[in-house]
Amino acid sequence: MDRKILQELYERATGSVENAYAPYSRFRVGAAVLMENDRGERRVFTGVNVENSSYGLTVCAERVAVFKGVSEGYRRLLALALVAVKDGETLPVLPCGACRQVMWEFGDENTPVYDGEKVHRLGDLLPGGFRLRKGRP
Ligand code: THU
Repeated sequence: MDRKILQELYERATGSVENAYAPYSRFRVGAAVLMENDRGERRVFTGVNVENSSYGLTVCAERVAVFKGVSEGYRRLLALALVAVKDGETLPVLPCGACRQVMWEFGDENTPVYDGEKVHRLGDLLPGGFRLRKGRP
């Protein structure tokens, strides 16, 4: 994956952070995914963490971004970038375990995950990820 595309995704993630709804943790996360549909069309979707006063209902930025894409018919995850901001400081973060499994559903071993500093492979972040069946639905 072209580094320039990953940088653009990172900028989109950064641009979305202001919409994070994180009144409890004050840990704001923004994510951007490049996804592809069955017609080979590609689009970027952004997501932010959305917290809830019933804490366990919180949804991470990565899942919001991926689900936005899937719900528009974009099922192939080609790349993801994310960023966190806490107390005005920008921090590199990696997806939580639950998000890694959700990304695995639509991506593969080589799907790049960019934290603004380093490009990681999804296969390294989630070795032996669970699949109910071969290929993608
Ligand atoms: N969070 C994300 O949005 N993505 C991650 O990968 C890790 C955690 C959010 C959830 C919660 O709103 C806040 O960060 C603190 O855990």
